[in-house]
Amino acid sequence: MQTVAIANHKGGVGKTATARELGAILASSRRRVLLVDVDPQSSLTAACGQDGDAGGNLADVIRGAVAMSAILREVGPGLFLAPASLALASAELGLATHKGREAVLRRALASVGDRFDLALLDTHPGLGLLTVGALAAADGVLIPTQPQGADLRALALFLQTVDNVRAELNPGLAVLGILPTFYDRRLTHHGAALEAMRAAGLPVLSVAIGRTVRMAEAMAAGLPLAEYDPHNPQTAAYNDLAEVVTTWLNDNRI
Ligand SMILES: Nc1ncnc2c1ncn2[C@@H]1O[C@H](COP(=O)(O)OP(=O)(O)OP(=O)(O)O)[C@@H](O)[C@H]1O
Ligand SMILES: [Mg+2]
Repeated sequence: MQTVAIANHKGGVGKTATARELGAILASSRRRVLLVDVDPQSSLTAACGQDGDAGGNLADVIRGAVAMSAILREVGPGLFLAPASLALASAELGLATHKGREAVLRRALASVGDRFDLALLDTHPGLGLLTVGALAAADGVLIPTQPQGADLRALALFLQTVDNVRAELNPGLAVLGILPTFYDRRLTHHGAALEAMRAAGLPVLSVAIGRTVRMAEAMAAGLPLAEYDPHNPQTAAYNDLAEVVTTWLNDNRI
């Protein structure tokens, strides 16, 4: 099983939307995909039409109360979810005094690794132990970023964290790429921000995701945009992203 974390220190940049869409699209191409909600806000769980409190969730796994295999729910053809609930926030606090805390999530994922081709980890904004644990468990990190000033400063901070995790916890961690989100090519400051990132040598992907009001509707309905509004231009953009990610997974298979 390969593992990709979707992460950025900055909130509201489309991490959860990206996890939901990639999960649905990659599973539809016959990959066995596990979505893992590593965020106490549980947005990915809700976007899959699930209630994390109605049954076991990742908080129970982190606390060592149940096995990862016991919490998985099928949320689409070939697509499973390890749900979260708000209890994940206190489970994260519990990790603080846990020896080997960075490896807890990695071990949980390894325990179901033979059932899946790919795990996609949706992380919460900020750089807490859960996010570090997700980066410590990942082969690659995909970094959704809005192409504007404040987000770029957060990006620099986040890339520093990725370097630290690589140096201290996970030498195999690669940056899959920076994904521009909420991108509007009519806005000159968006184009300028992308150019500045590329000029600085940052690995910006060739695909960008634009805005659509349908995304919030799809997430509220518990459906991927690909199903809620198949002809939406952003469904096409996420299909293009899925191709880029597939190529990366094939090139980086161990
Ligand atoms: N392409 C898009 N166009 C318009 N709205 C979007 C798009 N992608 C996501 N959204 C909406 O923007 C909000 C933030 O998106 P999302 O939850 O995916 O971001 P996030 O980075 O996961 O946020 P958080 O940091 O809080 O976890 C949500 O209401 C979502 O429905
Ligand atoms: Mg989110």
